[in-house]
Amino acid sequence: MLKSKHLIGLENFPTSDLNKIIDTSFKFKEILEGSERKVNLLKDKTIVNMFFENSTRTKISFTLAQKRLGADSINFSSSTSSVKKGETLKDTIQNIDAMKIDGAVIRHGHPGSALKLTEYIDGAVINAGDGSHEHPTQAILDMVTLKEKFGKIKDLKVGIIGDILNSRVARSNIFALKKLGAEIVVCGPSTLLPSNAKNLGVNITYNIDEVLSWCDVVIGLRVQLERMHLGRIPSKREYHSEFGLTYERINKLKKDIVIMHPGPMNRGVEIDSKIADSENAVILDQVLNGVASRMSILYLLLADKSQKL
Ligand code: CP
Repeated sequence: MLKSKHLIGLENFPTSDLNKIIDTSFKFKEILEGSERKVNLLKDKTIVNMFFENSTRTKISFTLAQKRLGADSINFSSSTSSVKKGETLKDTIQNIDAMKIDGAVIRHGHPGSALKLTEYIDGAVINAGDGSHEHPTQAILDMVTLKEKFGKIKDLKVGIIGDILNSRVARSNIFALKKLGAEIVVCGPSTLLPSNAKNLGVNITYNIDEVLSWCDVVIGLRVQLERMHLGRIPSKREYHSEFGLTYERINKLKKDIVIMHPGPMNRGVEIDSKIADSENAVILDQVLNGVASRMSILYLLLADKSQKL
């Protein structure tokens, strides 16, 4: 159903596969909004969700998507597993694979861990976020949300604000938006912008007001508070003042812009509560579209050819 066997990242992912996942997501969204909400397209399939890092949205969303598709799912959490006794990633995965699974979803702090997993298991591997490398399913749900809102992605003007250097969400979104023909400007403190931003095919500005008056949609990124000790931003208060999606900034624009955020949000740091909860924010639409997108991804990677949607 897709050219790809796995979904590890969007940098080298075929555009035709990306478009097929996005289009199929809308069919699953219709199902989710109907009275049944469940289809048995992955009956007899077993999927393991392996989370070596914390997650709320992605983990629940994948589990729900699997249940809605009628798959058997197993949730593995590293904090309550034999990883705590020193078991390696390779041994953990090979033991899980020995129990005959059809697919694995992995979130891990190390870039490359999802790709590594493909060496150890036979089934499809889906990257649910690997360090600062990629978070492809977040970008796909963001593309579905944009297409739903604007009817297209080509020529959309998208601003991405924040820690571009360490953000897997930013990287995957940049790859997806470029493939689909959007224009992108990234904005943040110079210490949090990658030196190769030009190679990524995006423009840079250090002035948030400039990007807000240019864009149709802005994606605010989470300030990674766990990295504060590295001293890349002076303080939460200064970040909010220089790069925050504040009520004053958004309110003074002479147009409406769509506000997105992947979550989890630091209210009062990268985004004001009044903006996060405003009519222009599609943050909870992103969450619902996450279930539909992940149903689409799981179906297209794992369903038997005879299982027609
Ligand atoms: N957006 C996202 O990945 O959220 P979680 O870390 O809660 O899964």
